[in-house]
Amino acid sequence: MNRPVNINDVIKSAITLLNNMIKRSTKNFQVCYGTKLPLLKGNRQKLEQIIINLIQNACQALTNKDQAIKVSSYYNEEKDAVVIEVADEGEGMDQEVIAQIMAPFFSTKQPGEGTGLGLAVSEKIVRDHGGEILVSSKKGEGSVFRVVLPTEASKKRVKVLIADDEEAFRDSMREALEACGGFRVETVSNGVEACVKIGQDPPDLLVLDIMMPGMDGVEVCKLIKDRSELSQIKVLIVTGYADSSKVEELRDMGFGHIVVKPFKLSNFLEEIRNLMER
Ligand SMILES: Nc1ncnc2c1ncn2[C@@H]1O[C@H](COP(=O)(O)OP(=O)(O)OP(=O)(O)O)[C@@H](O)[C@H]1O
Ligand SMILES: [Mg+2]
Repeated sequence: MNRPVNINDVIKSAITLLNNMIKRSTKNFQVCYGTKLPLLKGNRQKLEQIIINLIQNACQALTNKDQAIKVSSYYNEEKDAVVIEVADEGEGMDQEVIAQIMAPFFSTKQPGEGTGLGLAVSEKIVRDHGGEILVSSKKGEGSVFRVVLPTEASKKRVKVLIADDEEAFRDSMREALEACGGFRVETVSNGVEACVKIGQDPPDLLVLDIMMPGMDGVEVCKLIKDRSELSQIKVLIVTGYADSSKVEELRDMGFGHIVVKPFKLSNFLEEIRNLMER
């Protein structure tokens, strides 16, 4: 059931439940509760299940009791989201493992120690709450898991991803959208980053430059077209080359919303309004 939830209360009860395991695993357990966190709407029990799994994983990753675990909560203003962070100084993971950890039944633990469902289930719960799980880790040094849970107000805003290699353009488009209100904007500077972001957290609207180093806008559009689960994403192409063959290719693929640079921000916003109303 979706009720107002105070994340700090949920963290507290998860820690109480895991008290014995934590004591057995480390002499250095820290909790840092964020102040003035907004309430979230969500399922308290399911959110607790995520925190329990993350702390259990952290405990199981430690190789001696001097290694620390730190749990914190804080508000991320840019994302308008509450973040729960579980950091450990344990064994860490290499890239190959990181790539698989969200898959159901993936586990590196001994049979009987882990089913490999913890993170798969957690990710589903986080997605159901409109959020995402971010992971950073280094083999031999430890891991940080961040659960990002957007506020209700944030969930109502249109999620925009701007992919453009020109910083000045990126910033002016972001500022124009943020000044309108109702948009939650993230930016990346090339096609590869755009694809990673789209895979992790698909936007409602993608503002896409064509000419970018590495992977260009056409290739990003091909990826979107190939994957039916991404078909909801609306795409606005921004380009300095209105008559290039790439624009034709994009039109043929069904990506026909194009604004030619340099443009007036009012035209850019008008085009976005048209696109969002479709
Ligand atoms: N904090 C961490 N440090 C190092 N590796 C981790 C950490 N958290 C997760 N992993 C890796 O991710 C894998 C999957 O984690 P997940 O929680 O999904 O399953 P599990 O812990 O193996 O089993 P279960 O959660 O079902 O008991 C783990 O087996 C481990 O290899
Ligand atoms: Mg687990």
